[in-house]
Amino acid sequence: MRNRSIGFIFASLLVWAIVTYFLFLDRPIGKEQNKHKLSNQINQLEQQVRQEIANNEELLHDLQETLQQKKQEEVQAAPPLQEINNDPEKSEIQEGERNQNQNENGHYVLQSSSNSNDIALSPLKLQDTAARKTLKDGSPVIAVLVFSCNRITVQRCLDQLIGHRPSAEQFPIIVSLDCDHDQTAEVIRGYGDQVTLIKQPDQSDIEIPPKEKKFKGYFKIARHYGWALNQVFLKFEFDTAIVVEDDLDIAPDFFEYFLGTYPLLVQDQSLWCVSAWNDNGKSGLIDEHGSHLLYRTDFFPGLGWMLTRQLWLELGPKWPKSYWDDWIRQPEQRKDRACIRPELSRTRTFGKIGVSNGLFFDKHLKFIKLNDQFVPFTKMNLTYLLKNNYDSAFEREVYQSTVVDYTELKSGSIVTKGPVRIIYHTRQDYKHTAKMLGLMDDFRSGVQRTGYRGVVTFFYNGRRVHLAPSATWKGYDKTWS
Ligand SMILES: *[C@@H]1O[C@H](CO)[C@@H](O)[C@H](O)[C@H]1NC(C)=O
Repeated sequence: MRNRSIGFIFASLLVWAIVTYFLFLDRPIGKEQNKHKLSNQINQLEQQVRQEIANNEELLHDLQETLQQKKQEEVQAAPPLQEINNDPEKSEIQEGERNQNQNENGHYVLQSSSNSNDIALSPLKLQDTAARKTLKDGSPVIAVLVFSCNRITVQRCLDQLIGHRPSAEQFPIIVSLDCDHDQTAEVIRGYGDQVTLIKQPDQSDIEIPPKEKKFKGYFKIARHYGWALNQVFLKFEFDTAIVVEDDLDIAPDFFEYFLGTYPLLVQDQSLWCVSAWNDNGKSGLIDEHGSHLLYRTDFFPGLGWMLTRQLWLELGPKWPKSYWDDWIRQPEQRKDRACIRPELSRTRTFGKIGVSNGLFFDKHLKFIKLNDQFVPFTKMNLTYLLKNNYDSAFEREVYQSTVVDYTELKSGSIVTKGPVRIIYHTRQDYKHTAKMLGLMDDFRSGVQRTGYRGVVTFFYNGRRVHLAPSATWKGYDKTWS
């Protein structure tokens, strides 16, 4: 029914688009203007279609919940999540289900009975949705989605996740496997019912523009992310998930950090993620005694991050074919929202071989310090991170601090106490100072790594430093790259 109604909407919109197009062709207005108008119309059209899809998704979800409640009234005891996997339709693809169709490249095309189109249509078979939302005491259930492909070192990551998680009921681990790598699948199966294994069924070759052939990995990753997040939020119907990749070490308070910040993410609509990662988290740029310190950032850090189902319903329908992390950082997606990030990273990547090049690992990633102090975040008052509390205090601290230049900071010759500020005016200014201090100097959609309201905050020679634009700053400039 859903497919038919979406089809109908698509068809009507298509007709409208064609009619509009020909109307425009007939008008003797300037060609350029025509083109511009047309592309605006098409953009609007696209927006509307996406909105429709999102609305349908919501409607469907409501219907399912109602039906499910009915069903639950009949069924007394509900089976735990692990039992979902006993249903072959819902779990990984069985060897026997492989379709012996070869595509033109001679690769076998994997076909799963659970094709992504009917994910949302079948959760009636999944019972006890409630158990995937909150525990009996009302605390949240947060799925941990681990992305895995062809690295058996996923074991290192899983060992730590299982070792540190306070409760398997509260933090069910779902390992999503892309690639057809038997060894990796074997390793994951070795964990038995401690984790749930799902397999990305679409192993077909992706059509990639010739110029981007060498970035094929990024296309595969985006496809995998889109599929797996749909599974977690639409099929399993979790409300919240933490995204982890197979090459991450985690800190002992990894779960405590996400549990403690969870209420902020839910309460503050200007937050869209909590990340475990500090892009400038190297020794020498952090306060090593500041394990408890948290910040807001306009830069989406990734690398161990938590999102809600609500956000996925928004992003899922327009999920890109590649480079999803840079896509998500564009203003159209971010919509001025921020993430929480720690002073000391709660993740660190140990993987060298991957899609992004090993050079970046050698030059930067391997120096990120992983936090080793357990901080009881769930027992702390973190309301200072809510936008209404944070912004005014942040601006006060930044713009009342003493102005210095980076040579003074480097030489340690500053006599005043307290935080200091280095001012930058241009993109070049920023990059130069960042380089001199060992900070990341790149931009994504005009935002610096860890930046908040244009300010990059770090710790240097025993003091807090803000690399900040002038107080009259008017917003990020997308052309800064
Ligand atoms: C938490 O801290 C805020 C100040 O940031 C304060 O107004 C509030 O009363 C505190 N809440 C609790 C429960 O202590």
